[in-house]
Formats: sequence, structure tokens, C-alpha cells
Amino acid sequence: MNGSHQENASNVKVSEPPRDVGLARSKLGRTRFNIPRERVAVKDAGDNAFSLTNREASQASASDYLSVKTSLHSRLLDLLNQPQYLAASDEVLEQTVEDFVGDVLENEDLPLNESERTQLADDLMEETLGVGPLAPLLGDPAVTDVLVNRYDQVYIERFGKLEDTDVKFRNAEHLVRIIQRIAARVGRRIDESSPMVDARLTDGSRVNATLPPVTIDGPTLSIRRFGKRRLRREDLQRLGMFSDAVRTFMQWMVIARSNIIVSGGTGAGKSTFLGAVCEAIPASERIVTIEDAAELMLDQIHLVRMETRPLNLEGTGRITARDLVVNSLRMRPDRIIVGEVRAGEALDMLQAMNTGHDGSLTTVHANSPRDAVARLETMVLMAGVDLPQRAIREQIASAVDFIISVRRYDDGVRRVESIAEITGMEESMPQMQDIFVFQQTGRQNRRIVGEFVATGIVPRRVHQLRDRGFDIPLDLFRSGKGSWGGTGSRGTRT
Ligand SMILES: Nc1ncnc2c1ncn2[C@@H]1O[C@H](COP(=O)(O)OP(=O)(O)O)[C@@H](O)[C@H]1O
Ligand SMILES: [Mg+2]
Repeated sequence: MNGSHQENASNVKVSEPPRDVGLARSKLGRTRFNIPRERVAVKDAGDNAFSLTNREASQASASDYLSVKTSLHSRLLDLLNQPQYLAASDEVLEQTVEDFVGDVLENEDLPLNESERTQLADDLMEETLGVGPLAPLLGDPAVTDVLVNRYDQVYIERFGKLEDTDVKFRNAEHLVRIIQRIAARVGRRIDESSPMVDARLTDGSRVNATLPPVTIDGPTLSIRRFGKRRLRREDLQRLGMFSDAVRTFMQWMVIARSNIIVSGGTGAGKSTFLGAVCEAIPASERIVTIEDAAELMLDQIHLVRMETRPLNLEGTGRITARDLVVNSLRMRPDRIIVGEVRAGEALDMLQAMNTGHDGSLTTVHANSPRDAVARLETMVLMAGVDLPQRAIREQIASAVDFIISVRRYDDGVRRVESIAEITGMEESMPQMQDIFVFQQTGRQNRRIVGEFVATGIVPRRVHQLRDRGFDIPLDLFRSGKGSWGGTGSRGTRT
């Protein structure tokens, strides 16, 4: 991976085909700037380049670039927030941005090289005009979600609270134009015949947009801010999601290459938890991630990130998770991580797990471990392969080692509800046994009080692993051990 900077890793531009950039550029028009030669490449001309490793140099450069861009972005927003621009046409706004960037590049001594200077114009244009009146909201790093219910009704979430804003689009058509621009940038289409779209902004934020007739009161736009603070394993534990014993257990299971499925409802914290589980993957392993919209943030450098694609503007070019799983098997992966299994890729994933690609991790939308197994079964059928039910269940039972259920409890705290081991088949059903469960003991005001307890069962897999020399302490599984410590958190949530 070049660049190797975290900011780069989450920057869409890296993974986008050049075609899209071209499209955006031709849409935004005229981005030719006369760059005074003498101002170019001040930074990377010096001999001191030899004292930096490539990586250090590119990191320094990336952070220079980001800080320059951020400060110019906020100056630009100040400028565009002046009354005379509020009702201005797109053409006027584009010209204004262009003039601003041209002026800054000519008159200010910026620590940027030539390619960064070219990039700067495009980035600022995109960030400022690409989202129209939402730009100031997205310019505020505290805003985690932007929700446009109607062209004249825009909410944001900040510090976990929803707030109304004064931001308005001129009319529904204006909002549609912004939505179409966002979609077009990533080669997607939204119109009456396909009135819903998922896309990502340059900063990695996830966007969903809908048009009538599916939304009755007009177009909507929901932006889930990404690049916001990443919740790491420590954070989740501090928030009361799991106990020490569970953490230690998970770490062992990942190192020992168990196949793990994280299950739970929407917003239960599956993806976040999966990311935390991945923190235990050794740096020496080659990881391939497959997601519909890349959101996993991993520390490991030996990493290939893949993303599915829906139909493009021409109605072709769909690439499914299934295609990517099949392809990833040819990439000599040590780990295949599928962000969420939703369909036929379940079959390929199970087959991979059963044929030596141990240590695979994924999430599934389900309400219980049983439900997770049932859903996997249904998803395997979606692959369109004619397998008897029993064969599918056997595949599941032999492939999956553990199902970790996460849940957002009614006190708002997300917790690991249970960790179940799949032990094999009995009759025609995969058999499971709980290893850890969260036990609620009461309430303190609204907040649930409880403990995360070991059931006393030592997983079969742990016995096998110990036989193979993994020194997993049996202590972890002693009945009742592994408490949450009272309320299950030191109380950082409101
Ligand atoms: N343990 C936690 N405590 C607080 N917030 C969390 C926790 N886990 C996840 N979140 C937040 O909850 C939201 C939904 O989490 P996500 O992992 O995307 O859920 P899912 O994948 O199950 O839909 C995200 O904003 C995430 O940052
Ligand atoms: Mg998710």
C-alpha cells in the first residue's frame, strides 16, 4: 500500500476508478490553473529528502496537504456563506471557488507540490459544491449525521443529539441535482426508475438518497459521517460492551484462526465490534476485506480492501460480494473478512471456511444465534445452488466455530449478549452451546445492571486448540467468572 497513512486508507479517491474522477471533473468543468513554477515543489526539492524514509515523507506530505486543504475549506465556506452567494447559481459558485483557489495558489506560499496543487482545486470544488448547502454542516467535524428529510428540513446529529438546522435547499429540484451529482461521482444512477442510491463522499461518509415515489414527501438524503472517531477494542470495553474475560477469549480465538460470525440487529454494533475483533489479527497475515460500502478501519498494513458495485449508469457492471469472495480466494489471503453477509456469498464464504481459509470473520443481521444459522441457510439458497437442507446445515456446523451476538439494550448500551459455540450436528440441526452470556440482575435508574458470566462450559474448540499447543487458560471459562463490574461500564454514555 503506498501512502500508508490512515487518512489515505479511508480516502475514497484512492480506490475509485479514474473514470469517476474524470466524470466529476468534466461535470465541474474548467479546472485549469496557472501554477507559478517558482512556487512548485518547494518542499520536495531539498536534499533533506534523503533523511526521510519514503513513508515518513509521504506521511508528512499527506498531513501538510490535509491541513492546508482543511484551512482553505473553512475560509471558502466563510466566503460562500456571505449573503450574496446564498442564492447564487451553481455556475457563479463554481466560478467563485475557482477564483478563490487560483488566487490562493498564486499569492500564498503553500507547502504543496504540483500534483497536490492540481488536486487541491478539485478537492475543494468537490467538497464545497458537491454537497451544496450541506457543505458548512460537513465542514463541522462534530457533526456525525446529516439527515435531509425534505429540501427545507435538515437535521444533524452532533454529540449524540439530533438538532434542527436552518439549512435549506432552494427547492426539491435543487436537492435532486445535488443527489444526482453525488451519485454520478461514484458512477451510480438515481432517477424515477431506480429511486434509491447508496454512495460515498470523498471523505468516506456514507450517503443514501431516495426520490419519489418511494419517499412520499420528496427526495431525501441521509449522510452517515465516516472518518468520525473510531471505536476501538478499549473503547468498547470501557463502554461496557464486554468483559476482560471475553476480550481475552476473543483474542485467543482470532489468533487460533477460529471462524467467527457476529450477529445482531441493525445498529447493534456488529460492524464496530467486528473491527475490534480484527485488532487481534497478527500483522504478519494478509487480510482481504469485502464490503458493500467500506467502513472497516483496520490497523494492519498487509491489507486489500474490496468493495461491491451495483449497476452503473449503463445498467451493467454489477460486482457482487459473491464475485469478490470468489476472487479473493485467488489472492492468497490469510483472512477473508466480509463486512456483512447478505446473500449468496454465504455459500462461498462457508466453503472457504471449510477448505482451509480458517479465521474468517463476518457479520450477519439476525436476532439470535439460532436465527443467524437460519439466515445463513436462507442465504446459501440465494446462491442458486441446489443443495439439500441437511447438507447446508452441515456446512454451517462444520465451518462456523462461534456466533457472537451483540445487542443494543433498552438502556442504550450495546453489549455482547452471548457467545455460542457451534459444536456439530444433532439430528438435522446444528448444535450450539453458550460459553458466555450477559445476565441482567436489575436496574439502576434506566441503566441495566448485570454481569457477563461464563457458563462453565469449556468450548470444544478450546480443548482441541490446547491439544495443538495453544496455551489458553481454562480459568476464563470458570462458571460465573468475568464480571462486568457492576453497571457494566464506567458510565461514559448518557
Ligand atoms: N459499544 C458501543 N457503544 C457505543 N456506540 C457504539 C458501540 N458500538 C457501536 N456503536 C455505534 O453505533 C452505531 C452503529 O454501529 P454499527 O457497528 O454500524 O452497527 P451495525 O453494524 O450492527 O449496524 C455506530 O454509530 C457506532 O459508532
Ligand atoms: Mg454493519
